Amino acid sequence: MVMRTNQINIVLHDTHLNQAESENGVDPFESINQVMHGFIGMDNLREKMKEIYAHIEINKRRKEAGLKTEQQSLHMLFKGNPGTGKTTVARTLAKWFVDLNILEKGHIIEADRTDLVGEYIGQTAHKTRSLIHRALGGVLFIDEAYALAYGGDKDFGKEAINTLVKQMEDHHQSFILILAGYPEEMKFFLRSNPGLVSRFPFILDFEDYQLSELMEIAKKMVKDRDYHLTEKAELKLRRLIERELHRYTTHPFSNARFVRNIIEEAIRKQSIRLVKERVYELNKLILLTSDDI
Ligand SMILES: Nc1ncnc2c1ncn2[C@@H]1O[C@H](COP(=O)(O)OP(=O)(O)O)[C@@H](O)[C@H]1O
Ligand SMILES: [Mg+2]
Repeated sequence: MVMRTNQINIVLHDTHLNQAESENGVDPFESINQVMHGFIGMDNLREKMKEIYAHIEINKRRKEAGLKTEQQSLHMLFKGNPGTGKTTVARTLAKWFVDLNILEKGHIIEADRTDLVGEYIGQTAHKTRSLIHRALGGVLFIDEAYALAYGGDKDFGKEAINTLVKQMEDHHQSFILILAGYPEEMKFFLRSNPGLVSRFPFILDFEDYQLSELMEIAKKMVKDRDYHLTEKAELKLRRLIERELHRYTTHPFSNARFVRNIIEEAIRKQSIRLVKERVYELNKLILLTSDDI
């Protein structure tokens, strides 16, 4: 097909781009790998980040070419159980958005219901607006956001939601709102406010981790802290996680946070062991043994 713009003939045809590599052999999404290098898995999120990145990149080129551009809204909903990485991802994205020139500051204001909802009429709108004011240039992250809808129509939570929605439009582009919560509760929340879904183009599911992913996360956490698990320690850790996963049906499981807690405890135990034994050699300082787990 041939299109005529500004007296130039442009030949339009479908080119098939290699997914990972551009012409010069460099992955165009390498910067995303860098930003995400601390995370195990998270394929859904990586895909969404590619969409965002590509859209911005193409908008830049379109602007240079004098074509129309459109800024998309980037407000997000994170659905997932505790310890699946919601808060950490929000912090990571906030910084990334600064690199992409989407946000000016990239700070994150973490809030929950009590930070938005007041006790008297009129207080809630004021509280919510001032919270958004603090978040301008960054991310407003509201944890357990469904708590805003629990009280029904007469509850001030409703006023908070309405204020949020209004401000999302007024301050379009100058802050990003991320609402997070347990999957089931978030479903309830969205059902209670049918207008909400359309305002959040990014809905991300943070799945519970499998044993193998939790082990990978554990090894990463250990390595990042300059430690190493002995083979026996690794086996013991695996058995502990396995046992916890089996209890999961009757007992809430906190995913990667559970793993982090074990590792942090192991590090404290190792310190005591080394001080008692008075061994301070490098290889001993690094090793976490099964006794530490
Ligand atoms: N995919 C992952 N890879 C590496 N670390 C992770 C991953 N998911 C979660 N974590 C780690 O687990 C811990 C808990 O994550 P957090 O963001 O607080 O979870 P949530 O906000 O969903 O409760 C953090 O230390 C985080 O870095
Ligand atoms: Mg959290």
